[in-house]
Amino acid sequence: MSQKKIIVSNRLPVTANRDEESGALEFKPSAGGLATGLSSIFKEKGNLWIGWPGIPDFKEDEKPGVIKSLRGENMAPVFLNKKEVLLYYEGFSNRTLWPLFHYFTEFTQYTPEDWDMYVAVNQKFCDAILEYAGPDDIIWVHDYQLLLLPSMLREKLPNATIGFFQHIPFPSYEIFRLLPWRSEILEGMLGADLLGFHTYDDTRHFMSSVSRIAGYPNSMGTIKMANRIISVDAFPMGIDYDKFEKAARSKETYEKVDKYKSLFANQQVVLSIDRLDYTKGIKRRLYAFDKFLEMYPEYIGKVVLVLLVVPSRDKVDQYQQLKEEIDTLVGKIDGKYSTIDWTPIQYFYRSFSFDGLSALYSKADVALITPLRDGMNLVCKEYVASKVTQKGVLILSEMAGAAKELSEAILINPNDEAEIVEALKQALEMPEIEQRNRLLEMQEKLKRYSVHRWVEVFVEELLNVKDRQAKMN
Ligand code: UDP
Ligand code: G6P
Repeated sequence: MSQKKIIVSNRLPVTANRDEESGALEFKPSAGGLATGLSSIFKEKGNLWIGWPGIPDFKEDEKPGVIKSLRGENMAPVFLNKKEVLLYYEGFSNRTLWPLFHYFTEFTQYTPEDWDMYVAVNQKFCDAILEYAGPDDIIWVHDYQLLLLPSMLREKLPNATIGFFQHIPFPSYEIFRLLPWRSEILEGMLGADLLGFHTYDDTRHFMSSVSRIAGYPNSMGTIKMANRIISVDAFPMGIDYDKFEKAARSKETYEKVDKYKSLFANQQVVLSIDRLDYTKGIKRRLYAFDKFLEMYPEYIGKVVLVLLVVPSRDKVDQYQQLKEEIDTLVGKIDGKYSTIDWTPIQYFYRSFSFDGLSALYSKADVALITPLRDGMNLVCKEYVASKVTQKGVLILSEMAGAAKELSEAILINPNDEAEIVEALKQALEMPEIEQRNRLLEMQEKLKRYSVHRWVEVFVEELLNVKDRQAKMN
């Protein structure tokens, strides 16, 4: 039996860009944990990744060429038009599910037109998959944009092996039940044979909603449906450890790090990297950095915050507003403390190449990662993997899924400014032997549970559930 793996996510690991002047198309690697994390595995022979190439305005005569070139790289596009992007992607996915699942209820909109389009686009993905999927294939659906897809697929392919993984938190029942379409969402997810989340808490929250809203009995990670069982478990996603370790030892990284060394001579570098997102706690991080310089003026001229903010979802109002607030805040702090030859915050609003990222990770003395809520957070894991000299300190929010594994980081509550200030001081003054000990422990864990292992474990468990189902019949 030949089984190929079909990965399905809203965003493909490459995103199209159109040159404004010439109109020419160009594909670039996508940012965000889902795309970067899985990009190493779909290239295996015979596998396929189905998703949206990231812009709404492909011309009809361009589509065959796009399909052909993506197929050469084991990808297949689902084209979305402007209205679908507006209502399904910017609307229901990013104005309803994203804020609600990250506990930002005040940002959550409940718009029936967006919901209708969410259903229609999930169906569009289902139809696209049916063009490629054989009855024995493994179909692995990813993330909150496609919560209805597992059941839609199940209806058409009753015996298929379907896995679902959610990369963002699953909220507690009290939050989830606010959603007018809560039952439909749960029924949609329950088309899968195996449902995975990053943490045990997400799993627990999901199970609690399944019993209280959908009414299906469950125990020990198994849900009993009328005609089959479904398994639910936590699978904390890892990174391609070797790729980051190797890059940190490469000539390209060394050359860039050398450049940074002269640029930041006699200064300690604190690194902050995120997509522009209100869940990431960027504003609070900036307030805390301001407070740190105010409380410890001896660090003026001695420390620099490298703030890399990657553009994201810039048509959604909350993201536009956040961009303006960050610009203002950075300007204020730089204006307040800068000297002729020193600026406290080096701010970049763009994405970096892989080599550029690797060099930043290598050079940074401290990584300051303080999301208010985050499903996992891969940036902190990439930082740790890149520390081949075992010098560097990770300050990490308790609210990131990664904090469950990286207990040797300095863990902080992102709402506690005083705690962040003291963590910064502790990190900048930490003895090298302690930095080394903490990093070695974390590296050991990340090496063992890499993204390759994560895929193996998930797929093994998925096949396992199919076996258990078969034995029951
Ligand atoms: N990243 C990127 N380009 C950049 C900066 C970051 O591709 O310029 C990647 C980074 O390497 C990481 C991902 O974006 O793999 C962010 O994933 P994370 O889980 O930390 O957060 P998410 O964006 O998924 O919420
Ligand atoms: C997070 C989500 C992904 C998403 C990524 C980037 O990692 O879990 O599903 O792809 O952010 O966001 P975008 O809206 O640009 O795809």
